[in-house]
Amino acid sequence: MAANEGLKLVERDEDGVDLAFRADVLAGLSEVQKAVPARWLYDDAGSQLFEDITSLPEYYPTRSETEILSDRGAQFAEAIGPGRAVVEFGSGSSVKTPLLLHAIEPDAYVPLDISGDFLRAAAADLAVKFPGLPVHPVEADFTKHVALPDEVAALSKLGFFPGSTIGNMIPRTAVDLLREMRGTLGDEAMLLIGMDLIKDVDLLEAAYDDAAGVTAEFNLNLARRINRELDGTIPIENLRHVARWDDRFARVEMHLEAQEDLSFSVAGHDFEMAKGETVHTENSHKFDQRSSYMMLLAGGWTPCERWTDREGHFSLILAEAAIPRSAP
Ligand code: AVJ
Repeated sequence: MAANEGLKLVERDEDGVDLAFRADVLAGLSEVQKAVPARWLYDDAGSQLFEDITSLPEYYPTRSETEILSDRGAQFAEAIGPGRAVVEFGSGSSVKTPLLLHAIEPDAYVPLDISGDFLRAAAADLAVKFPGLPVHPVEADFTKHVALPDEVAALSKLGFFPGSTIGNMIPRTAVDLLREMRGTLGDEAMLLIGMDLIKDVDLLEAAYDDAAGVTAEFNLNLARRINRELDGTIPIENLRHVARWDDRFARVEMHLEAQEDLSFSVAGHDFEMAKGETVHTENSHKFDQRSSYMMLLAGGWTPCERWTDREGHFSLILAEAAIPRSAP
């Protein structure tokens, strides 16, 4: 049996309640600044809403990153070379992954995802598009060490972590993850990682507060999920979606703000929010070249190339696990 097989990725009580979700929500609502980890935004409805976000006119990151992947194939091929196993952290989006696989001629593709359903769908899709390419999906929590399939043991790895998902983590957690990835991928590995760039505040805030209200729905869906799965009584209609840039930490924050004084319960526990008080639901960190390189270096990766889209909105960085030869 492979090392990741048989692991229970989601623990539930006898009523089917996700225990980690309940623990995170109860703890987070008890903090002075209420907060729920962003990963809980992605139930089925939330994942669909995020898909919808990626085609909004205000949400540039997906378009910008796709442009880089479409335009720079020859340079990826040159810098990365053929014959690697591409290990993608998080389910392959049907658009971005083929662009990379077409460009570099890998010997295997290993998608990692915590959701088995997403994973199998993505793997089947890729297998059709690339008939000769061995695909080895692994159902795993990629924030932990992952045992890769034996079939790719002899291949050098290319980690692929698009979408600026790394920006959802505070730097300390991001650095932990980068170090885990380096351990998972090995000393010969390279990493191709998307990092969104610091830019005009109006553009940033619009990307997280679109005119059609899809991002607001995405954020409010978290409260709906709490009510549905954790027997909650949060009055959704009295919450407002807020997206705001925090310049100290270079991040867009999403919050749910109480429009009046509120009392509600979740899983049998009572909570109150004063009018204007918020639940912090997501951070989306933005970078410049120096801050992105510093974070990669702190995580054990040496940057070697960097590409941006024509508007300079988004960056894709190629890094290697090898330590620079000049290092003392
Ligand atoms: C999926 C984490 C890259 O932070 O831009 C989009 C999630 N949140 N709109 C991001 C998100 C609100 C997105 N990531």
